[in-house]
This record gives sequence, C-alpha cells and structure tokens, in this order.
Amino acid sequence: IMRWTLSVCVLTVSQHASAVVLYEGDHFLLPCEFPTFDVDDPTVVWSRYDLSPSTVHQRQQEGDDLKNQNQLYRDRTSMRTDALETGDLSLNLTKLTLSDSGTYTCSVRSAIWGERRVTEVQLQVKALLVLLVLLLVTGGLLVHFRQYFMSGTSLLLHYP
Ligand SMILES: *[C@@H]1O[C@H](CO)[C@@H](O)[C@H](O)[C@H]1NC(C)=O
Repeated sequence: IMRWTLSVCVLTVSQHASAVVLYEGDHFLLPCEFPTFDVDDPTVVWSRYDLSPSTVHQRQQEGDDLKNQNQLYRDRTSMRTDALETGDLSLNLTKLTLSDSGTYTCSVRSAIWGERRVTEVQLQVKALLVLLVLLLVTGGLLVHFRQYFMSGTSLLLHYP
C-alpha cells in the first residue's frame, strides 16, 4: 500500500512540474541515452553543477572513474556495465536523501567534438515524514466520517 501511495504521488506531481518527486530512502534511475557506441573513446559524466566537485558519476571505456566523485554520492551510484556499448547511460541512484534534490546533467565527452550535454533531470526528494503526516490526516478523516456514519445508523435504529 505504501509503495502504491508513493507511485501515485510521484505521478500526480510530475504531471504538474517536469521534475521527479521521490521520497527519502527510495532509489531512482535517472534516464539518459546517447549513441556512445559511435563515439571514439567516449566519457560519460553525470554532474550536479551546484556542487563542488560537480561529478556524481563518471564512466569511461575502461570502466567507472570515480576519483573526482563528490563524496555525497559515494557507493550510491551505478551504471549498466555495458552502458557505452548500448548507449543506455542511465544512472541508478540509491538511498536517496533530501540533499539529493537538484538538477542532474548527463554529458558525453569525446576527443573530437568536446563535451555535449545530453539530458537534464530534475529530482526533488521529500521527507518521508510529510507523507506519513498526510497518511495520518487521511486516516483520521476516515475514522471521523465512519463515526459520523455509525451514529447516523444508530439514530435510524432507535427511531422506527
Ligand atoms: C538500482 O539499485 C537498487 C538498489 O541497489 C536496485 O534494487 C534496483 O534494481 C536498481 N535498478 C536498476 C534498474 O538497476
């Protein structure tokens, strides 16, 4: 039920703003595609330019290159092992925290044409507490109305 509620929230909110809204602790696949199989010696960089260092994840032909990775993202990012061969450069970000909210840019670098920005994804991570409060309020309303209905029924039973 919790999962279902989360997805509904995500769907409704993302229709209004073009940002993705998620909750703490969740994981999310940031989408990005580019025909890197046509590029000679490509480098894929996922960045958040509001951070320093701005690198969230970096992949080269030899594999992940995480020496410049921002430590906020340590052990929380992964890409498909065959990303550069398939062009699916999506980034799996796990254990989301509130400070993961921001704009993520997927870029591809090549020795020939330099750097090209491919996609931007806006992520908004909300506290689970907000969701729990919402659920409690909804639950409270239900209980309230149920009592209202029940007292209505008992009146009917007393009067005939
Ligand atoms: C992303 O990582 C999470 C947690 O490790 C995992 O459960 C999920 O399957 C991964 N998603 C993809 C598309 O790899």
